[in-house]
Amino acid sequence: MARTALIAANWKMYKTPAEAKAFVEAFLPLVAGHTRDEIALFPSPVLLPTVIASAAGSNVAVGCQNMHFAEEGAYTGETSVGQLLAIGATHTLIGHSERRQYFAETDEIVNKKLHTALKHNIIPIVCIGEVLAERESGQTESVLKTQVTGAFAGITAEAAAPIVIAYEPVWAIGTGKTATPEMAADAHKIIRAEVANLLGSDVAAAIRILYGGSVKPDNATALIGQEEIDGALVGGASLKPDSFTAIVKY
Ligand code: PGA
Repeated sequence: MARTALIAANWKMYKTPAEAKAFVEAFLPLVAGHTRDEIALFPSPVLLPTVIASAAGSNVAVGCQNMHFAEEGAYTGETSVGQLLAIGATHTLIGHSERRQYFAETDEIVNKKLHTALKHNIIPIVCIGEVLAERESGQTESVLKTQVTGAFAGITAEAAAPIVIAYEPVWAIGTGKTATPEMAADAHKIIRAEVANLLGSDVAAAIRILYGGSVKPDNATALIGQEEIDGALVGGASLKPDSFTAIVKY
């Protein structure tokens, strides 16, 4: 089944509004008319209005890096799905490994966020991946299965269509160490098989699984070129229009 690739920029906690605007103004002409892949930018919440306004009417979507599972409430410092939709965000990352590592997000929280995202029609990119010790001790497969099962608890096949998964081996994020295309494809096969197990083969065949972790212009083609890999979630190399464009045009 042909799956349209999604190339996503995770800007993490970088850029001011002026820098974000300058990025979009430089980037849009570079990718104008590029229809082969979907493109999305994930800036910090404070940058969203600027980036959404700058990208309006273009082929570049904008999403948030995180979202709370509650619809509203006394959750200081958090952002709700309604707030994101009201300003025109269309996507959100869920359970990025930095959220799991530094902000104690568990599979259970990821699951709650996924339910909220699907209920309100924001496109969720659910991030999963093993840490180095897990890979070295042969636990990659069981970790990925546990994360997929946890994230998808209570999700039905009918509701699952918008979900995107990002496989990001934690040891490859921001380290310059990339999984080889074969390693990434193997992990993607494990993830897709687990989705098939939970939600059936049609959902599994259609779901997009992105790779993330030190994706750069010089390794993007080998990675995204794998049949199992349906795009990329890019951190460091997404901060400059030229390098992110080179990845979009892998
Ligand atoms: P990186 O980050 O490309 O800088 O490794 C990827 C991510 O954290 O999504």
